[in-house]
Amino acid sequence: MRADDTPLIRLEDYRPSDWLIDTVDLDISLHPQKTRVRALLGLRPNPAGRPGAPLILDGDELSLSGLRLDGLLIDESAYSATAQGLTLHAPPHRRFTLTIDTQVDPSANTKLMGLYRSSRVYCTQCEADGFRRISYFLDRPDVMSVYTVRLEAAKIEAPVLLSNGNLVAAGEMAGGERHFAVWHDPHPKPAYLFALVGGALDHVRQDYVTADGRKVELAVHVEPGKAGRAGWAMDCLVRCMRWDERVFGRNYDLDVFNVVAVSDFNMGAMENKGLNIFNDKYVLADPQTATDGDYASIEAIIAHEYFHNWTGNRITCRDWFQLCLKEGLTVFRDQEFSADERSRPVKRIADVRTLRSTQFSEDAGPLAHPVRPRAYKEINNFYTPTVYEKGAEVIRMLKLLVGDDAFRAGMDLYFERCDGTAATIEEFLACFAETSGKDLTQFARWYEQAGTPTIVASGRYDAAARTYTLDLAQTTAPTPGQPDKQPVVLPVALGLVGKAGDLPLVTGSAAYAGDGVIVLDQPSLSVAFSDVDEPPIPSLLRGFSAPARLELDLADADLLRLFSADSDSFNRWQALQSVASRALVSAGRSPGGHNALIATAGELAEALAGFLRVQAPADPAFAAQVLRLPVPADIAREIGRDVDPDAIHAAHRSLAAEIGLRLRPHLMELRERLGTSAAYRPDAASAGRRALRNEALGLIALADPEAGAHLAEAQFAAADNLTDRLAALAAMTLVAGDAREALIARFGKTYAAEPLVLDKWLMAQALIAEPGTLDRVKGLMQHPAFSLGNPNRVRALIGGFAANLTQFNRPDGEGYAFVADMVVALDRTNPQVASRLLGSFKSWRMLEPARKALAEQKLAMVAQTPGLSRDVADIAERALA
Ligand code: PHE
Ligand code: ZN
Repeated sequence: MRADDTPLIRLEDYRPSDWLIDTVDLDISLHPQKTRVRALLGLRPNPAGRPGAPLILDGDELSLSGLRLDGLLIDESAYSATAQGLTLHAPPHRRFTLTIDTQVDPSANTKLMGLYRSSRVYCTQCEADGFRRISYFLDRPDVMSVYTVRLEAAKIEAPVLLSNGNLVAAGEMAGGERHFAVWHDPHPKPAYLFALVGGALDHVRQDYVTADGRKVELAVHVEPGKAGRAGWAMDCLVRCMRWDERVFGRNYDLDVFNVVAVSDFNMGAMENKGLNIFNDKYVLADPQTATDGDYASIEAIIAHEYFHNWTGNRITCRDWFQLCLKEGLTVFRDQEFSADERSRPVKRIADVRTLRSTQFSEDAGPLAHPVRPRAYKEINNFYTPTVYEKGAEVIRMLKLLVGDDAFRAGMDLYFERCDGTAATIEEFLACFAETSGKDLTQFARWYEQAGTPTIVASGRYDAAARTYTLDLAQTTAPTPGQPDKQPVVLPVALGLVGKAGDLPLVTGSAAYAGDGVIVLDQPSLSVAFSDVDEPPIPSLLRGFSAPARLELDLADADLLRLFSADSDSFNRWQALQSVASRALVSAGRSPGGHNALIATAGELAEALAGFLRVQAPADPAFAAQVLRLPVPADIAREIGRDVDPDAIHAAHRSLAAEIGLRLRPHLMELRERLGTSAAYRPDAASAGRRALRNEALGLIALADPEAGAHLAEAQFAAADNLTDRLAALAAMTLVAGDAREALIARFGKTYAAEPLVLDKWLMAQALIAEPGTLDRVKGLMQHPAFSLGNPNRVRALIGGFAANLTQFNRPDGEGYAFVADMVVALDRTNPQVASRLLGSFKSWRMLEPARKALAEQKLAMVAQTPGLSRDVADIAERALA
């Protein structure tokens, strides 16, 4: 279907369902090609619906094999059934049951939505609208039902049978070949949270007692032979359950909690009630096959899915426009958990890096949309950084604005008031308005208005009057469908930094909210601080208190002082980033400004030298962030138009190389100092040491390729863990030559039997910033480990290439052509993976004219392809609009 024929679904058109389904009894007989599904639905008219309305059930690629009403066959004229739906024209206006028989083919399901098989394991994915691929249903989140699920399968094929809730019965069928299990979930839930799993799986188990005394059996299920890699996920699960009890007062509410890892999965993981299903990349970990980054992601995602049990499942969304109600809030919760488990400032820096590179770039292009979209054609295209990451930033600002106590009280009120319901953003915000006494009307604009606000700031010091006046203004650039922007509520956390640290903030300004926060809710305002004894340096947006761009013209010298003296760790990091970013933007705009770049490298290296010697060893994880320059994509976005990716890349490389050259002795010494003979441990402190050593390695490799290659080879050989090996490979990929090819070959051989490790190998190669990369990537598609059917492989190799700034944006357009062809090819089997890949084009409009024209051609080619999925057609249409 072409996107332009697809109906636009609008928030303002929401109406309650005419019918409700109180109970669902599923009887599912698993078979690789012919799985039989019987659904017994307990229906009743919704008092809030239209009396006498027909019953229109959703379907997707279904075929009906039987239908009964209250157990009796129905006349064929009373209903119509297609692959896309089942309509009962005049159902009785009372409670009744429907028994619906369908048959589905899990083996043929390449979309990985609904019931499918992943490496012989039966599993389901129902969010957002996959349940309708299993049975006809009111597949909308405000229809919540109590499920009882009977599963049946051949014993040898599926010895493990899982569904939501608690196990109530299990046994063998006559003949002994097949067996069954019955699961009951007492908590009413929408269909998108239904799940089943059947297969031969190993597991680790652990007993857990909740703070309110419930005994829970926790289990992590993995492919046979991989239970040795499930321990970390279990450890994370136990820690995040305790954390949610302590920090949010939330206890788990079933007798079992199952996590299952599968190798074919469209997203990261899914919070199905009591049965979370994960992309195995976010479960499996041991030192040989997972990096420190993987350990941290697993911790975050295990927590994220677990936290959904309250924010998503107990309280779900009224409709898909409210997606951020569960996602933004749950991301906020998992970020806070990781901050508490690790280093808060380092976590914040990492999160802001992600926010800028993924969400700010979305906001700056044609796919920009509000945290709560107003309309969509394909909801699967709205699982975006804006809904997730910006959604989390909105919660973070809310907490800052109402204060910790009112925030916690507001959450408690929300959990109490909305438990068991399908809620809206309005209901959520009302809780905080109540507990804080604040009017959140303007704050709610964060949910409606797309785009990244820019805060323009400047300060004036009056020595005679001993005052410092800060002028702040905000603007937001137009985004698709929103030409005129209104001011939003921007909490600007700040300090005035003097010679001996923060100066006291004395002001009578109404915009000053106390505790070092100015609330900028007007187009512009001024705040005068009095009793200021010396000219201060403003430190604004501390802790990145609002998801905004800051324009504040500080001299490099002032930024470097903030780097050494700011009491806010985030802004120490930001200060150095700002120095680098300014130099990169100007070099990226007009290549040839090489001398300015060298001067900046000198300044940065000097500031870093002292830092590395004295402070870095005390906080290596922070130091690793400090050493890392802003990514080229951020520089491109700052430049904003007529972007030349090669110029940005060249500037980025030479700045890094110059810094590396100047710091080389310090970096070598630091690597010595941080080197350890202790066995690998995944904790944050050990990971921080490795991160710093490896950051140093990268800089050395850029400064002195030969020395870098030697170090990388030695590190690869000596390493007892994947983190250090992969870092060696990454450093080596920076420098063309035989040594690189040899290490690539060696890495590939070492991990030939480890698909998740090979993904990193594929990606490292796809990211090489050289013209040969496109052919290399095409060649790697023939590698036995590669498969277009597996989303992780595709994201690693083809997604990796699409993230390669210089090669995706090759001047001859061949990068666009390749990715566009892949989108079209993938769309035939897996539209979700295809449409996400097409999202790589989201920044095409800011390119210089020649590349822009080539990118547009390829987008148009995709858009005109006959038979496109709604997913891909929607992205192509919006990208071109
Ligand atoms: N709801 C999942 C999460 O954020 C993400 C997801 C969406 C997974 C759609 C699969 C399909 O945890
Ligand atoms: Zn989520």
